[in-house]
Amino acid sequence: MAYLWNRSHDWILMPLSPAIESGDRSHSVAPVESVAQISTLLLDTDPTLDPALAALAREAATEGVVLLANDGTLPLGGEQAVAVFGRVQIDWFAVGYGSGGDVKVPYIWNLLSALRDAGVRVDDDLAAVYSAWSAENRPKLDGTWGQWPHHFAEMPLASEVVSAAASRARTAVVVLGRAAGEARESTLEDGSFHLTADERAMLDAVTSAFARTVVVIDAGNVMDLSWVAGYGERIGSVLYAWQGGMEGARAVAAVLSGEVSPSGKLTDTIAWSYADYPSAENFGDPDHNHYREDIFVGYRYFETFAPDKVQYPFGFGLGYSTFAVAVVDAATDAGRVRIVAEVTNTGAEHAGKETVQVYVASPQGALSQPVRRLAGFAKTGLLAPGESERVTVEFALDDLASYDDSGVTGHRSAWVLEAGDHVFHVGTDVRSAAPAFTVTLPELQVVREVTEAAAASPAHPFTRMVRRADADGAAVVAYEDVPTATVSRRERILDTLPAEITPTGDLGIRLDDVAAGAASLDAFVAQLSVEELSLLARGDVTMHSPLGVPGNAGVLGGVSESLREKGVRPVTTTDGPSGIRVSAYASLLPCGTALASTWNPALVRELTARHGEEMVRKGSDVLLSPGMNIHRDPLCGRNFEYFSEDPLVTGLTAAAVVQGVQSVGVAACPKHFAVNNQETNRTRNDSRLSERALREIYLRGFELCLREASPRALMTSYNKVNGVWSHYHHDLVTTILRGEWGYEGAVITDWWMEDAVDPDFPALADNAYRVRAQVDVLMPGGVKTDEGPQAYADETILASFAQEGGITLGELQRTARNVLRLVLALAPVVDARA
Ligand code: BGC
Repeated sequence: MAYLWNRSHDWILMPLSPAIESGDRSHSVAPVESVAQISTLLLDTDPTLDPALAALAREAATEGVVLLANDGTLPLGGEQAVAVFGRVQIDWFAVGYGSGGDVKVPYIWNLLSALRDAGVRVDDDLAAVYSAWSAENRPKLDGTWGQWPHHFAEMPLASEVVSAAASRARTAVVVLGRAAGEARESTLEDGSFHLTADERAMLDAVTSAFARTVVVIDAGNVMDLSWVAGYGERIGSVLYAWQGGMEGARAVAAVLSGEVSPSGKLTDTIAWSYADYPSAENFGDPDHNHYREDIFVGYRYFETFAPDKVQYPFGFGLGYSTFAVAVVDAATDAGRVRIVAEVTNTGAEHAGKETVQVYVASPQGALSQPVRRLAGFAKTGLLAPGESERVTVEFALDDLASYDDSGVTGHRSAWVLEAGDHVFHVGTDVRSAAPAFTVTLPELQVVREVTEAAAASPAHPFTRMVRRADADGAAVVAYEDVPTATVSRRERILDTLPAEITPTGDLGIRLDDVAAGAASLDAFVAQLSVEELSLLARGDVTMHSPLGVPGNAGVLGGVSESLREKGVRPVTTTDGPSGIRVSAYASLLPCGTALASTWNPALVRELTARHGEEMVRKGSDVLLSPGMNIHRDPLCGRNFEYFSEDPLVTGLTAAAVVQGVQSVGVAACPKHFAVNNQETNRTRNDSRLSERALREIYLRGFELCLREASPRALMTSYNKVNGVWSHYHHDLVTTILRGEWGYEGAVITDWWMEDAVDPDFPALADNAYRVRAQVDVLMPGGVKTDEGPQAYADETILASFAQEGGITLGELQRTARNVLRLVLALAPVVDARA
């Protein structure tokens, strides 16, 4: 474990995540001596790091900063000294914990040095007090996986220190920090979701002594902010910075100093109290959680049933200027809705950007509907004071259809638009959006008929939230039974078993011939032996595979000599999402929530295209990114990696990541498919939910991402979905992902999986059970036992192949095709690693 910082305490190197379950993944980092060194450091320490990527990371982090309150205290004036309180100004949280942020980063700016760098006149005496204290009281990181600190203990603040600072500076900035991560939920404790007593004392002391206080929150999760109201006017500004990666502190400094006007918008609702969240009663159970709030996740619940429980609404965020938004045109044409809005910067001083958000209020018919659902959004460019820009928000009406899982509309297992007024609201957050355009459907439209899939198990009945009206017509919460599964999985599988390709033996066709169009993929696959087919269905057994770049997460594809001889190259996977996790230095980018908070997919695409180039230089073929599970609950440890409580923001941000990464020829791998919404007992707990909530909330983002960006790989999740582990889930992966959405890429497991026998086909266990679902590749490929992951591969595929009722040749060939499509999409280079 390294936690290094330079002698002048100007900035730190990150606390490195400790060994992961699989063994030691930690890295050591060389200290850097001065801020001035930073610009040259990228080139000096690792010639393959890209300063332009760092610049884009900073830009994205800046656009992700959300200004929640401002009475004019911000931006800070250049001349006045500013007193910065809180140890987090030095011990900055750049990312959350676990695989998603464990990057060997060459530097991390902290806020103190970033403010100085931005020309802010920081009160040096106070900074010296904090620097000295922080040097004496290094954060405690004991190195145990999953035991990382949620916060760093705050410096007890002597009143003389505060009053002396107040005599030198007019404005105070108080910096608070939090982190959570993989296997590390946020908790409802002081120091995690809530303030510690020391933090409260700091806020009390500072807001008493200073007329103007700015609060900066450096955190990956939403934390309780109800205390802000208690300070009234004594807190002038609140800034949610998220975790912006190595350049994140500079992004915050750019906003505080006024160099950039903030334009981030919340991608989650911030409620007054944790208990107000609709998931609160059904989150964190180690065995199973009933998603009783159903489709009423986040703002869908709050805006419909409990608007007064909201402190800061979804989509909200201030800038330094004001904007007028006028709808100048709205029309439907060929099933598409097109809304044009003119946005004008009505302020006098600051240039800025604004995001136009369109929400639909669907008719409350047979299906319950929230009062608002995000339908589309568009962000302006930088508008100078007085300047205007017309933005167009466009989407298909069909994309707003709802899923009838009970037959209440007369169309069970269909996506429908109910008859009545579909009212489009336009604004700059969910709350303030006003009606602008109505599409009236005279009758119900069936948009798409599918089949029941992955529905709740009849063995575990439960009820879900629905919307009813009280005597005055106001929306009230009621509950109804969740429809449970009626289809026979066994019959469905038997009906759809793939035909086999007649084996030919080795005809000398190489995969390069397929790439060149000289042979078909089927002709290539026909040559493979059963053993070779089974090898394509697992990775090279361990992390840090010798077939890949040092520090890789695992290698798949050409894992044997015979496959490589046929031109199947090894495919190296690396984490993601916030950087490339290898042994070499790599860039640490803004976390998922920060990226989504930009509401700027074009910028995310630009950033990730550069990131893709870094992958090429580092020897990564597949980035295990984006993380795109829904922020169902503010305590989920990996929320920092994920984007939003809303599936549209999630899907469009994820699509931007995938498009960027893949634009340079490497692959992205969205994860974790699906319904992976908590870290508590993540490999065992069962997410129990209605098919409607599954499809409309938890799968929707994946569906959009696939449709818009065609990721070459996809990772399943650890958890169960309605009683079946995702890595065995035929309905999720074969019926929906492949069948309905037409996905043809490689599906890989999350790292290792749980053993199980197929309940419908007892001859299939473990990897054979998995391949039947078309979860193609076990990663990293070894066996998981009670003692932990083992460095040998299991025999369940071959054992099952030999048995009556076992895995078929056609299924193995189908999986081989899925995997080889990924291999073919990558550059054909077989370098020294092969
Ligand atoms: C995580 C994945 C990650 C994988 C490889 C797992 O523990 O859940 O998100 O990609 O490890 O590091």
